[in-house]
Amino acid sequence: MEDKYSVLDFTLAEAKKWVNEVDDRPVSSRLTFEELKEKISFPLNSTGIPAEDVVKHIVDSAKDGLLGSTGGRFFAWVIGGALPSALASDWLVSSWDQNAALYACSPAASIIEETAGEWVLELLDLPKESSFAFTTGCQLAHFTGLSAARSKVLKNVGWSVSQDGLFGAPPIKVFTSQHRHGSIDRAIRYLGLGNKSLQAIKTNDLGEILVSEFERSLQEFGGPKIVVLDAADLNIAAFDSFSELIPIAQQHGAWVHIDGAFGLFARASPNKKYLTKGIELADSWATDAHKWLNVPFDCGISIIKDKDAHREAMTIQASYIASDKIARDQIDWNPEWSRRARGVPVYAALRELGKEGVSDLVERTCKYCKMIIEEIGELPGAEIIWKSELNQGLLRFRDLKRNANESDHDVQTQKIINAVNESGVAFFSPTTWENKLAMRVSVVNWKTSEDDVKKTVEIFRKLLS
Ligand SMILES: Cc1ncc(COP(=O)(O)O)c(C=O)c1O
Repeated sequence: MEDKYSVLDFTLAEAKKWVNEVDDRPVSSRLTFEELKEKISFPLNSTGIPAEDVVKHIVDSAKDGLLGSTGGRFFAWVIGGALPSALASDWLVSSWDQNAALYACSPAASIIEETAGEWVLELLDLPKESSFAFTTGCQLAHFTGLSAARSKVLKNVGWSVSQDGLFGAPPIKVFTSQHRHGSIDRAIRYLGLGNKSLQAIKTNDLGEILVSEFERSLQEFGGPKIVVLDAADLNIAAFDSFSELIPIAQQHGAWVHIDGAFGLFARASPNKKYLTKGIELADSWATDAHKWLNVPFDCGISIIKDKDAHREAMTIQASYIASDKIARDQIDWNPEWSRRARGVPVYAALRELGKEGVSDLVERTCKYCKMIIEEIGELPGAEIIWKSELNQGLLRFRDLKRNANESDHDVQTQKIINAVNESGVAFFSPTTWENKLAMRVSVVNWKTSEDDVKKTVEIFRKLLS
């Protein structure tokens, strides 16, 4: 039999080389923008070339321009790696190439995704009656949850968004934290509510929404309300006080949505679950499997307690959709039409780790985050800005010259981040916290080990002493 896919053998060898050697490679890109452009970007050829040459060229031209974000010493943004079974099953998803929009298009993919969704609900201990959808990321999980919220709070005042749109609708206000992630603002824009509908509420020193201010703000607005709370903000992993805020929101008829892009996974650990106390009272939750669960991009998860509101916001009717209603059709719950079965790697990751494995991953990464922050924090010029109970924290580096001011410390902080990244030993990203530049430490990769922590601290020691 002719092997039309022999290119996969070469690709497998290259992919294995990448994942196995990533920790021995520089974590940062070694090529400049111009160098990458020169290797990759040229006029499209008029005649084709063999598949193997195509893939070989992609591998050769890209490999030195990639980040080692699947390795153990990548601590920038919140970017998880890929567990072996999750990566392998992601390949299967591509090889099967099913359109997982409908049960009829792929019965097996449908059952795998449905099972994965049920396991996620169980793992995160969220209401069993909730519906779920595997979206491209937390951004679209916000869109999905807030879309249901928008329809429901307007329906409660006698307005149908699906029939009448938003022109002339009673204005909605969205109450949220001053530290919310930008994906909330964008979801609100996608939903046609406009960013002026957002009301940012001040937080206390721990980054939690001030309860009194929250209550007053809700009282002052008589129209339909949505509340968005943080289950770990991206800088200091602050959790809002759900058990105080959600009952207040409910008294005011508000829909409560949770941004739990990574923090929702604290619920998988018996020792960290307390951080999310009361979160189960919310109406919708958005999280990512491509962060802490370590499945490959892209995979977010939307969870919504009111199934009907979820379905009503997302469903589609077309005469050619053959639905025999044996199972849920993903098309009724997702913002996409055609879609890959991105829930399959979630099924795999959960099986590979089991509940205890996810808990261990969460606790291990929190421990390493604390070690990195405390050990670097002891070095000359380093200052701990934040050390959280979770997997995020902030460091800042002071310029030790006499009379140095805050802007000198900003410059020094960026200088140290650049120097570490250029060293290729580890990779970090900057952020702004209370108007000062800081270095974020985010640990979410299943591969990060004590040895990675040691190597990371060593490079800072070298640069700071
Ligand atoms: C707290 C928080 N919310 C939302 C998002 C957006 O997630 P995604 O990139 O999967 O859309 C992120 C991403 O870093 C995040 O950290």
